[in-house]
Amino acid sequence: MSNYDPANAKAYNDAIVIRYYTRLSGLTPQERAVLEPLVPEIRDKPLLDLGIGAGRTVPELTAISRDYVGVDYSQGMVDFCRAKYPDIDIRLGDARDMACFETGRFRFVLFSFNGIDTVNHADRLRILKEIHRVLEPGGSFVFSSHSRTPYEARARAEKARPIGEKLRSARDSLIRILASPRPSNPEVRKLANRLRNNPREERTGEYAIVNDPGHDYSLLTYYIHPDRQRRQLLEAGFRDLGPAIDGQGRPVTDCAETPWLYYRARK
Ligand SMILES: C[S@@+](CC[C@H](N)C(=O)[O-])C[C@H]1O[C@@H](n2cnc3c(N)ncnc32)[C@H](O)[C@@H]1O
Repeated sequence: MSNYDPANAKAYNDAIVIRYYTRLSGLTPQERAVLEPLVPEIRDKPLLDLGIGAGRTVPELTAISRDYVGVDYSQGMVDFCRAKYPDIDIRLGDARDMACFETGRFRFVLFSFNGIDTVNHADRLRILKEIHRVLEPGGSFVFSSHSRTPYEARARAEKARPIGEKLRSARDSLIRILASPRPSNPEVRKLANRLRNNPREERTGEYAIVNDPGHDYSLLTYYIHPDRQRRQLLEAGFRDLGPAIDGQGRPVTDCAETPWLYYRARK
């Protein structure tokens, strides 16, 4: 297993990536569908928001409870959030080690927008156990993760693309690189990132580590089938797993179209 975590952590400290997250606001329909049924039981209760990025979820969650802690391991994201929300408890921290929080401290934990997909397999399992630990009995955990099914369909379609078409795309991006061969050119960044990250992709029966186009190919990202994800949750000690939720807010067991699914689990 290659150790791509430092490269992913570096990507989330990159100014261009941080700027992308500063432009996001509000919850998605998928997130509303998964959160709304929980609101009555988490209102005014201790909430932990992991991987807050530039704080997209801060207004929505602090409207549910002011007993709120936001955490991210990117100093750049945390600095931005603290400047934007000076009255909110925002901490620099890593979901892999939450020793700063006592067992059973939170009623609800959110790890939105696939933040958990940034770490390697062993660390993902560690995070699930850490989240289980910091939840109080009966507390809920909501998160999203990239779904392997649509990714595999895309990969098959890409493989089947006629060779002439592939060569034309390669030629077009080469022309764009030669027109401005500087690191500020997104095409140059994409090529450099692909050359570095593509050889570190992995496929196992349980998961795939994919160098997808997100943030100019700067990340290696964890993809998983929903049935495997549910098993990981059960093994971490969670119970009462709701169905995974697709991009339209509908329950699914697997989904060919939605790139990532939301999950809900209870301690
Ligand atoms: C895809 S961004 C989503 C940001 C934000 N939640 C949103 O929806 O706009 C994922 C975030 O998770 C953070 N992250 C990834 N792994 C983390 C970890 N192990 N501990 C804390 N934060 C992490 C990244 O720094 C990044 O800000």
